[in-house]
Amino acid sequence: MKLDKSPNTMASMFNLSASHYDLMNDVMTVFTHRRTRKIATQLSDFKSDEKALDLATGTGNFACLLLKKVQGTVIGADISYKMLALALAKFRSFDFNRDLTLNQVDINNLPFLDEVFDVCTIGYGIRNVLDPLTTMKEVARVTKKGGRFIIVETTPPPNNHLRFLAFFHFSKLAPLFAKILSANVNAYNYFAESMSQFPKAPDFGKIIKRAGWKKVFYYSLYFGIVTIFLAIK
Ligand SMILES: C[S@@+](CC[C@H](N)C(=O)[O-])C[C@H]1O[C@@H](n2cnc3c(N)ncnc32)[C@H](O)[C@@H]1O
Repeated sequence: MKLDKSPNTMASMFNLSASHYDLMNDVMTVFTHRRTRKIATQLSDFKSDEKALDLATGTGNFACLLLKKVQGTVIGADISYKMLALALAKFRSFDFNRDLTLNQVDINNLPFLDEVFDVCTIGYGIRNVLDPLTTMKEVARVTKKGGRFIIVETTPPPNNHLRFLAFFHFSKLAPLFAKILSANVNAYNYFAESMSQFPKAPDFGKIIKRAGWKKVFYYSLYFGIVTIFLAIK
């Protein structure tokens, strides 16, 4: 099935699912997404004097973890204003004593100069873009030489049985939970389909390299259901 991943469609879908986003994440992943982002934050090696850009920041989970880690500068970017509003509320609920800048932008057309960020991150967002190769080239453009790009994504596990179970979980159980919790069921049907169409981790690693990233490492979690990619420019 061809999915409509145009920025306008994504913005409307995430505006509609924003209010239940964090709750559904906890339910769908049995809270493991929190640990996953913590590991990814450690891997980013973000330091105090550095500047980070969290793309598809959503409700700001990744951006807040980066801010918790060190005193660096963090910018969160997303196309959905409702997700950004929740990110702002989350940020304000912590006592960070510094600023988080939030921008409503399309990830494919970043309003930043070349080579300004030391670290770029994207959690569960790269599968929502029209063309990941183009997006990752754009991210490479705004990243400094030697800078890091962390991508966290749900990936098809190598084991056939597990792949079937994961797809069953995301295509049948997640929409059911969404219905029970009065969340946006269409969004969870979309999530399942977009996950099933995502390349296997080694194949996606090759696409990252084609986008101009010099070195690419990947770390499989939960039997390969989630992968953290670390790319160095
Ligand atoms: C699954 S959520 C991930 C949120 C967050 N990164 C996290 O780790 O929970 C995907 C996010 O990507 C954003 N998004 C989708 N397409 C986008 C685009 N073209 N430009 C910017 N953000 C986009 C959505 O609005 C949504 O907030």
